[in-house]
Amino acid sequence: MTVWFTGLPCSGKTTIAREVMKRLEGKYDVELLDGDTVRDYIRNKDFSREGRNKHLRYIALMARLLSKRGVIVLCSFVSPYRENRDFARKINDNFVEVYVKAPLEVCIERDVKGMYKKALNGEIKGFTGIDDPYEEPDNPELVIETDKETLEESTNKVLNKLRELGYID
Ligand SMILES: Nc1ncnc2c1ncn2[C@@H]1O[C@H](COP(=O)(O)OP(=O)(O)OP(=O)(O)O)[C@@H](O)[C@H]1O
Ligand SMILES: [Mg+2]
Repeated sequence: MTVWFTGLPCSGKTTIAREVMKRLEGKYDVELLDGDTVRDYIRNKDFSREGRNKHLRYIALMARLLSKRGVIVLCSFVSPYRENRDFARKINDNFVEVYVKAPLEVCIERDVKGMYKKALNGEIKGFTGIDDPYEEPDNPELVIETDKETLEESTNKVLNKLRELGYID
């Protein structure tokens, strides 16, 4: 199975994915593909539309290869464009799209890495939520509202959904 976390920067994707991973480890083979880590490894700083498209197609393929071998793959990427998430869904069986939702104001307030500040100052261009669009998922398997739920509640919602879908015990 592939669990795909999408949402604005600072909405909580990495935090929740890590927590879900902790809860599954030991019982399942589980791997986390995270936006920051992957981009660091492959030294990819291209956040243009074309750049994001290419990057996410590559991630979708990695998820496919791993999940076909029985690994539970958790993917946490802003993945702001519908076409990229739809592509990931198309090539991955048992695809679970989790919309990690928080109002833009809350994300700006959190600004974990100081990126919103830079985007608002005009220091960086094409930042999702500021001067690049976030296209909300139309039919995600699950919506998580991190401004209203605790991390534990959000994590439990993901695990319950996976159980409900019959992917875990
Ligand atoms: N219910 C919640 N679930 C997840 N994170 C929460 C929740 N409530 C508050 N937070 C906080 O929100 C912040 C989310 O940061 P995180 O790095 O996980 O976001 P992200 O979506 O991965 O961002 P980016 O796209 O920049 O990688 C953390 O500081 C986390 O502690
Ligand atoms: Mg993250």
